[in-house]
Amino acid sequence: MSSTVKPQTAIFSKGYDPQRSEGAAVPPVFRTSTFLFKSAEEGKRAFEIAYGLSPMKAGESPALIYTRVNNPNTEILEEKAACWDGAEDAALFGSGMGAISSTCLAFLRPGDTLVFGDPVYGGTEYFFRHMLPLFGIKTKHFSAGATREEMEALVKDDPTVRAIYLESPANPTILISDIAAARAIADQYSTPERPILLMVDNTFMGPIFAQPLKQGAHLVIYSATKFFGGHSDLVAGFTMGSKALMGQVKVFRTILGSIADPDTAWLIHRSLATLQVRMEKQQESARKLVAHLLDHPKVYDLSYPGLPQMGERQLALWREQCTGTGSLATFKVRGGEAEAFHFLNAIRHMKLAVSLGGVESLIQHPSSMTHSDMSPAEKAHAGITDNMIRISVGLEDVDDLITDLDQALAQI
Ligand SMILES: Cc1ncc(COP(=O)(O)O)c(C=O)c1O
Repeated sequence: MSSTVKPQTAIFSKGYDPQRSEGAAVPPVFRTSTFLFKSAEEGKRAFEIAYGLSPMKAGESPALIYTRVNNPNTEILEEKAACWDGAEDAALFGSGMGAISSTCLAFLRPGDTLVFGDPVYGGTEYFFRHMLPLFGIKTKHFSAGATREEMEALVKDDPTVRAIYLESPANPTILISDIAAARAIADQYSTPERPILLMVDNTFMGPIFAQPLKQGAHLVIYSATKFFGGHSDLVAGFTMGSKALMGQVKVFRTILGSIADPDTAWLIHRSLATLQVRMEKQQESARKLVAHLLDHPKVYDLSYPGLPQMGERQLALWREQCTGTGSLATFKVRGGEAEAFHFLNAIRHMKLAVSLGGVESLIQHPSSMTHSDMSPAEKAHAGITDNMIRISVGLEDVDDLITDLDQALAQI
């Protein structure tokens, strides 16, 4: 097959050889915990590779070992899912947090510092602020969407910086961060003993509307619970990057036990075929809904990628880094928490729930839900207010969603 086909074509054949599964048109679920070796030598070699004791040779295809290490469903999915980002390798995890925590622990050591763009998803925020310090790893942050100078100020005089972590667009403020500038900073201040890694959580846009590896990220991370899964019926995550870096990530995944099970891998595999059409259709509806909300007297500070109202810098970053606007938006309603709750309780069609990227529209209140663990000062720094609402637009009829939002806003 030509290697020039688009990801949407490649995913249908990449990574799966039907002849190894009785000709099954789609991969069966390999619901097994362990795999038989043909010989002791084959088993020895498989372990050498899995534990990073010896690199895999070109063309070598090591035997499967044990489902906490690898499994056909996981491997087939990883190869296909990496197509959009053009990643050399991918690792599937049991959740987005599994991907984030295992990836950070694979590279950060006591005494190191992680610099991140604030805000990030509440769970990630908790891991950075409360858990990494337990292991002697410090964190500090700049504001999402910061300039190169603002990011550099935290890195230039600090030889302990080992990683820069961006969530772009950020949850829940939908601010885009400058990936190329972060990579330039990482390169400038890296030393051979302490290379600085750039990790980017691309959950909101990716992999269809943004591919951060192309702007210089070393590793791209996903909550696959969101668009990859797409149906709010599973929890999973991905990290993707070069084979060399992913080798280290996979050793940590094996020992921390954070891989996803074969059934989850199979379900995401099924979702993969519709990922692009879902994201495109959800985006189309989101654009219509956002255009409507922009004119609504009870709504202000609407945040949505590509909107001129986001300001020139955000618009420039969006043009450089994204090929779409996505289906996540945040806005504020006139009033405070009481008015926001009144509005949320009046909504009929969007489901009042955290998470995003599924076929059904979800609506939530970041301050008291996804980001409730942050202190008032941290929320204020991140721009998360009590009247802020986050929506994830799904596949319902968009005019029905608009009518519903209007009637709920009218009740404030
Ligand atoms: C941007 C982002 N990254 C990571 C996560 C964590 O993913 P998971 O819930 O799959 O562990 C989330 C969850 O909402 C998220 O929004």
